[in-house]
Amino acid sequence: MNRFFVTTPIFYVNAKPHLGHAFTTILADAQSRFHTLMGDESYFLTGTDEHGDKIAKASEAAGQSPKEYADQISGLFRDLAPVVGAKPNQFIRTTDPDHIKTVQKVLQKVYESGDIYFGEYGGHYCFGCERFYTEKELVDGMCPDHKTKPEYIAEKNYFFRMSKYQGWLIDHINEHPEFIRPARYRNEVLSLLESGALEDLCISRPKSRLTWGIELPFDPDFVCYVWFDALLNYVSALNYPRGDKFKKFWPAANHIVAKDILKPHAVFWPTMLKAAGLQPYQSLNVHGYWLVRDTKMSKSLGNVVEPKRMVDTYGASAFRYFLLREMAFGSDASFTEEALVGRLNADLANDLGNLFNRALAMTHKYFDGKVPSPAEEFQEDAELKHLGLEAMQGFQENFAEFRTARGLESLWELVRALNKYIDQTAPWTLYKNKQMARLGTVMYVVLEHMRKVAVHLWPVMPEASVKMLEQLGMPFDLDKIVLPKEPEVWGVLESGVAVAATSNLFPRVELPEPTPPAAKEAPALEAKKSKADKAPKEPQAPAGPLENIEFTDFQKLDLRVGTVVSAEKHPDADKLLVVKVALGEAEPRQVVAGLADRFSPEDLVGKQVVVVANLAPRKLRGVQSQGMILVAKDAEVTRLLTAAGAVDDGGKVA
Ligand code: MSP
Repeated sequence: MNRFFVTTPIFYVNAKPHLGHAFTTILADAQSRFHTLMGDESYFLTGTDEHGDKIAKASEAAGQSPKEYADQISGLFRDLAPVVGAKPNQFIRTTDPDHIKTVQKVLQKVYESGDIYFGEYGGHYCFGCERFYTEKELVDGMCPDHKTKPEYIAEKNYFFRMSKYQGWLIDHINEHPEFIRPARYRNEVLSLLESGALEDLCISRPKSRLTWGIELPFDPDFVCYVWFDALLNYVSALNYPRGDKFKKFWPAANHIVAKDILKPHAVFWPTMLKAAGLQPYQSLNVHGYWLVRDTKMSKSLGNVVEPKRMVDTYGASAFRYFLLREMAFGSDASFTEEALVGRLNADLANDLGNLFNRALAMTHKYFDGKVPSPAEEFQEDAELKHLGLEAMQGFQENFAEFRTARGLESLWELVRALNKYIDQTAPWTLYKNKQMARLGTVMYVVLEHMRKVAVHLWPVMPEASVKMLEQLGMPFDLDKIVLPKEPEVWGVLESGVAVAATSNLFPRVELPEPTPPAAKEAPALEAKKSKADKAPKEPQAPAGPLENIEFTDFQKLDLRVGTVVSAEKHPDADKLLVVKVALGEAEPRQVVAGLADRFSPEDLVGKQVVVVANLAPRKLRGVQSQGMILVAKDAEVTRLLTAAGAVDDGGKVA
């Protein structure tokens, strides 16, 4: 049995958990569940990082002792996991006595081997990052992350001979492509390592300056640098060196972090492991930032989204789906409640929810609520099965590489194909024509595929997946699911089993009313849930009528009709398509359009569209865009704007 050890960073206890922490926890949980379904033995670790300057200062400001303060905030992080439907196997705290002993053991070992020495150092110290910066690393004299001026500190300290392992680390990264992923971060680390001599790492703080830390076993006047202490949590949690867990799960470690802490994980940690005589971890998986209006979400910037409020409003399953679907692995993503509501309505209420609602209702209407027996398979059934097989394989391959957005995109090809299959096979007509054998096959094909979709969704939406399976008359049983075989398995759903009459797992949601600015502390308004058939309009931004414009203003717009000659996914942005439109010019125009969540490239090719042809060119995520494709939309649908009949390419809209 393969072993899969997955970790989140251990979070600092200087602030309450926010959406950024929730996301890494959800991603780790989804990976842990995915590997469990794939038949691996999985172990999921999270926890809190409690020593160092940052915590000492925060506790002082709160008028508490560091330990009291850490106890309180650590509790909030411990409570975060169940709120977002995550089930870690272990929650570690760096103030746990066992962890402290392990850190001291490793320090002693590395000291005795000669890789820790005493020396003097002067450097630019950022208290936010708890690390020294070299002149070269600062941006206009400021910390690149906190945008604050670091303090120059010169003092005697202990150093870890990190420089000694530079060559080994470069070779290791080159020989193991999965060691740091996605590739852009691997390249970033390689270019950092290859750009010059790696410096040794200062791993102590004099007690005269800081007492809140783990005492060095070989010098009681110093405490351990917080990163050297924190990184060791990944092995102390497994009871290194002799614990059974350690023997089982090391080096099968798959760390998940955001790009803010790439260097400590990609450079400090593997060299520390090497110096301590331990094998390197298996993979470091680096995701981007959740941004709010183009800025990283962080407590110090005061722009945090509270995960609890999102879960209370939309439910844990839907919230998890949005985050895992929206963020392309390695890239930043913007969090807006509008985007969340849009995606929940499009993917969950319209696609998945609708599929469940109609299929269950039809099973009741045509087969008394029992799974029918399939008869002869038609060409269209085989085609759907083939598409489903590829969609599920796509899900599994992408998920295994942490590309959850692409994995879900692949699975949704099946969800959408199922709705199309229902439209095309028209069970209502088969019923009217009394073609019950064919109707039985059609409904069986749909229900069995729904079961497959529900099983695949367990890592992403555990609660909803269990309910979907229950609605299909299948109690959730982990031991019976073998995900790697699932794309090809057929006929698991037993004929004659009763299914639920209704689903209603994913009702349409509405944006909560904006909080009036005066009532800053007013409680968040609940999203109103409404029935799918009486969907209220999504609020259109901006609210209220726009100002009148003069005809001459309108004349400034150069609107043209053109034919889409090609369309493909943007290499670096999930929501964007790169579309080439023939506008009667020498070359087709390249337009980057934010349509990927509503249209697949095939939907666009060959269609005539309306383009704003004189929009100033700009680059969108690195790809040049010269114009904009117009659409018309309401709460339900987005449609391409086009002329009522064929028009020559380049034809003017006036
Ligand atoms: N204590 C260190 C980690 C030590 S691990 C041995 C630390 N803690 S932290 O509280 O600052 O957490 C940073 C991590 O929180 C990020 O790497 C990421 O996992 C998560 N995130 C915090 N803000 C985030 C965003 N805005 N977006 C995405 N993830 C975010 O660093």
